Amino acid sequence: MSKRVLVTGGAGLIGSHLVDLLLEKGHTVKILDNLDDQTHPHGKPDWIPSDVEFIHGDMRSDADVKNALTNVDWVFHQAAFGGFTPALTQYIDVNSTGTARIFELIREHKLPIEKIVAASSQAIYGPGLYTCPSHGTQAPGMRTMEQLKAGRWEAECPQCNAPMAPELNPETAPKSGETIYAISKHAEEKLILGLGKAMDIPTVALRYAVTYGPRQSIFNPYTGVVSIFSTRLLNNQRPVVYEDGKQTRDFLYVSDNVAANLFVMEHLDTAYQAYNVGTQQPVEIGNLVNQLARLYGKPEGADMPGSFRPGDVRHFVHRCEKLYALGWQPKVSLDEGLGHYVNWIQSQGNVQDYFEEAFQRLQQLQMVVSR
Ligand SMILES: NC(=O)c1ccc[n+]([C@@H]2O[C@H](COP(=O)([O-])OP(=O)(O)OC[C@H]3O[C@@H](n4cnc5c(N)ncnc54)[C@H](O)[C@@H]3O)[C@@H](O)[C@H]2O)c1
Ligand SMILES: [Zn+2]
Repeated sequence: MSKRVLVTGGAGLIGSHLVDLLLEKGHTVKILDNLDDQTHPHGKPDWIPSDVEFIHGDMRSDADVKNALTNVDWVFHQAAFGGFTPALTQYIDVNSTGTARIFELIREHKLPIEKIVAASSQAIYGPGLYTCPSHGTQAPGMRTMEQLKAGRWEAECPQCNAPMAPELNPETAPKSGETIYAISKHAEEKLILGLGKAMDIPTVALRYAVTYGPRQSIFNPYTGVVSIFSTRLLNNQRPVVYEDGKQTRDFLYVSDNVAANLFVMEHLDTAYQAYNVGTQQPVEIGNLVNQLARLYGKPEGADMPGSFRPGDVRHFVHRCEKLYALGWQPKVSLDEGLGHYVNWIQSQGNVQDYFEEAFQRLQQLQMVVSR
């Protein structure tokens, strides 16, 4: 049955692909997006279809969010302030308070929303669980500044200090993310699930792995490694990699991400649940650089000045079997997904590198530290 659907953040990477999928399925779509200037410095992107209602508005505005929520059945809440930036209050204002605002307005105006699916993040786990060869499963907490300055990158056992191997965190693993982004997304997720339950509106939180694909901003130097590395390579500069390049992430192609969104929206058994959404495949960041370099015909190898980001997590790969068991599985391999991305960015004309300036700024603020 055709639904009236709001996609917040519908101009962005995940939101815009979700909009396309919903239109393809015959739904009526509305977008709320403030065209954040770090992500969209040239305004409204040309991929926003003409047959959607586009509200140029902000999650921080009652009037804009109320307008967006009116005459809607389903909400996909994707709008967020992301990345590794010093704008601490903006994360809370947009991601946490902005999410509370949705429920405040639904309650006040008795808006008959049927279901809400919101973007959480695997960032909320922070360092997560590791295995010590002698002591088994451990939750080591954040690496200390002293450890990072000494270049001891791997998590160490709290009992014997041995370096430990990462485990795949299930949904029940401790949520110990300490970056402002992780804190704001954890609050968002708790608000989505808690307030949904209290107000009897089915809600779902999806803890995405690192999501990439065409339309990922090529202007934002604070988030999106595939785009950041690509803009460096296309400008004949080596991508800058923190630590030693052996840290790992799980890369999820955007079409798989949006298929998961629609899947949990349509599936009746997902109410008030949180799911990890990813491929469970660890990719070393240094290897990602080399894979991209080969695709662009550039020399392999990253620039590794020995710097690190305090609060960063060494390995970020999570167990997704809860969602696999329900019937969603990723379909696109990293090779295939990067191929689509590379074709897309090469159709965007000359791209610029904005990383150098951001890197200097983060170093000045001690958000990036050199050994
Ligand atoms: N891409 C990833 O790797 C990843 C991983 C985990 C979670 N997420 C989450 O997924 C969601 C979508 O991320 P994305 O990768 O598509 O990012 P994106 O930056 O491409 O899209 C986010 C959109 O939100 C909009 N936005 C930002 N602040 C806003 C505000 N105050 N009001 C209205 N709109 C606002 C931006 O203009 C942008 O179009 C976010 O909630 C993000 O936290 C993304
Ligand atoms: Zn040990």
